[in-house]
Amino acid sequence: MTLDVVILAAGQGTRMRSSLPKVLHRLAGKPMVRHVLDTARGLDADGIHVVIGHGADHLREALAEAEVRFAVQPEQKGTGHAVAQAMEGVGRGKVLVLYGDVPLIRRDTLLTLLEGVDEHHMALLTVTLDEPTGYGRLLRNAAGEAVAIVEQKDASQTELAIRECNTGIMAMTATQLRRWLPQLSADNAQGEHYLTDVIAVAAAEGVRIATVHPAIATEVEGVNNRAQMARLERAHQREIAERLMAEGVALLDPERLDVRGTLRCGHDVEIDVGCVFEGEVELGEGVYIGPHCVIRDSHIGAGTIVEAHSVIDGAVVAGLNRIGPFARLRPGSRLAVGAKVGNFVETKNVEVGEGSKINHLSYVGDARLGRDVNVGAGTITCNYDGANKHRTDIGDGAFIGSNTALVAPVSIGEGATIGAGSTISKDVADHTLAVARGRQVSRPDWPRPIKDKPY
Ligand code: UD1
Ligand code: CA
Repeated sequence: MTLDVVILAAGQGTRMRSSLPKVLHRLAGKPMVRHVLDTARGLDADGIHVVIGHGADHLREALAEAEVRFAVQPEQKGTGHAVAQAMEGVGRGKVLVLYGDVPLIRRDTLLTLLEGVDEHHMALLTVTLDEPTGYGRLLRNAAGEAVAIVEQKDASQTELAIRECNTGIMAMTATQLRRWLPQLSADNAQGEHYLTDVIAVAAAEGVRIATVHPAIATEVEGVNNRAQMARLERAHQREIAERLMAEGVALLDPERLDVRGTLRCGHDVEIDVGCVFEGEVELGEGVYIGPHCVIRDSHIGAGTIVEAHSVIDGAVVAGLNRIGPFARLRPGSRLAVGAKVGNFVETKNVEVGEGSKINHLSYVGDARLGRDVNVGAGTITCNYDGANKHRTDIGDGAFIGSNTALVAPVSIGEGATIGAGSTISKDVADHTLAVARGRQVSRPDWPRPIKDKPY
């Protein structure tokens, strides 16, 4: 059977108090609706349909490359009405209804839900809550079979005491849904076409309703305001932290870690507090990340030590490197084994050879450094002439004295030495000393000025 996933995302999300549509607010660095889309993709869905209404243009734009079909619900007349808008594009197999503001639903839970669907069965994800206020309650008959959902606003006193709640997530065949949707009425407290009413229609037809429960509560948690958003973010980060620790990562405080993307770690990686990992990050065996580092889309090789407050973006670090504290590696920074980049050093689009050191207060960009190069404090590659970028090439074993400006394009030969304070604008040959600074003048007979005598 084919599978179509319908994601409801037409609501306004007023309580976010934001000009951004609610489902585009980010959880773990990714818009909520993207989490749902990625999960839907993981089910090998034949079609993914997003029902949009409020902020429709914004959503179309944000999901332009997502290969989804949009169904517009111009007026929010209820969840049943919303699903109906998507039906035109839906196939003949199974249909799964998801929500753009319930971002952490898991693939395994949905697979279990879908297994329960055929011509004689539909499936509903329910959760038993201590505090069920606001949720639709599941009514069961004497035999324990699910027979209806009653919304909070329509429920009687006895019904309100029921703690088994509708998560909203459900699956059925497209044939069933096409048969049931026209039977929904708006004769209820909110004057809406409730999708939840299909349960009663199904039960009346003799279709059985299989109920499935999420593995953990956060899977079915929806976001309505920023406080819930922040709580869900923390809960999600805590899960990521638990997973990392189970894989052998030492986290100095699992409450103070943020992963916004994918973090892969070898054994015995140690991560100090307050670090943020974005995009795809890989940390090799035994890597240590000091406190308050930000690492994005980078590979950090085994045995590397990254000291506090370093920012690493788009870098590839081979291994046994020392970085920071307060280092900034920008995209295209590639460090060979054992290279060091120290405090207040910025690198960009640079290849640093084995064992080379840029230890203090430097900017090195658009450059290649051979092996065992020593770059003194305060060295700057002047790579930009105001219009174009130019390259600096430094040979193996070269020694760049402190406070040197290397005016690119320029190349420094193997084993060359640059005197401190030089401004180097011409190539320097191998094994040559180059000094380009004003000569020191010493005058032992120089009379120091003295103050004029007061009269
Ligand atoms: C709904 C369920 C309720 C369930 C709860 C779980 C119904 C009638 N009720 O209630 O049983 O316990 O979810 O959170 O389904 N939406 C549209 N178009 C609409 C209306 C809603 O796209 O016309 C979208 C909203 O953007 C939202 C979702 O559907 O993402 C749920 O709508 P909402 O009005 O929040 O439903 P609840 O009252 O929470
Ligand atoms: Ca509602």
